[in-house]
Amino acid sequence: MKLLVVYYSMYGRICKMAEAAAEGARSVAGVTAELRRVPETLPREVLEKMGAVQTLQQQSHIPVCTVEELGSADAVIFATPTRFGNMCDQMRQFLDSTGQLWAKGALVGKVGSVFASSATQHGGQESTILSTHITLLHHGMIIVGLPYSFQGQTRIDEVTGGSPYGASTIAGGRGERMPSENELEAARYQGRHVAAIAARLA
Ligand SMILES: Cc1cc2nc3c(=O)[nH]c(=O)nc-3n(C[C@H](O)[C@H](O)[C@H](O)COP(=O)(O)O)c2cc1C
Repeated sequence: MKLLVVYYSMYGRICKMAEAAAEGARSVAGVTAELRRVPETLPREVLEKMGAVQTLQQQSHIPVCTVEELGSADAVIFATPTRFGNMCDQMRQFLDSTGQLWAKGALVGKVGSVFASSATQHGGQESTILSTHITLLHHGMIIVGLPYSFQGQTRIDEVTGGSPYGASTIAGGRGERMPSENELEAARYQGRHVAAIAARLA
């Protein structure tokens, strides 16, 4: 059972959450879980202006996902930062290059799941996850979220991401915050949950 965590992370938070999700998935017997980046779409000079060169460089050891390997995965967790309440363009462009998989029904009946990050608590994490689900549904994927059995999503003693739609993390208005332990645990839980369901289906 091969699970892919396919992500984009300009400043590293989604990358950390993706590692946690893969860790959770690997705890399920018989499951291999690997990280894949989606291709960059922005020119270097724009990335420099956005202060993203170093954080992207730190992820350069992670392979870039191909459409073919996406099609051969048994389950896929997609992870994206919020851009104006939606997935980022890098993820959009990658998904828009999967028409050949759609034409073959390559993802039909496979488990798909999404998590996200945003700068502010209410800056669009849920809309990003839910709108990404639409593409997965067009591919015929079985959507899996983050059930309330992960109780960390109900806590109010600290600021935290996480909703029944999927794990999430809050970066802060000035990018001053990294994923909390509770948010990383949500990503681990989601990874484990997706892997367990996919293993049962297989
Ligand atoms: C063009 C652009 C649009 C963004 N739109 C939103 C937004 O709608 N809501 C929000 O809270 N954060 C927004 N952000 C902040 C990003 O979501 C945040 O930097 C990201 O989640 C951090 O994840 P990363 O460390 O994995 O890159 C935006 C950032 C950029 C560059």
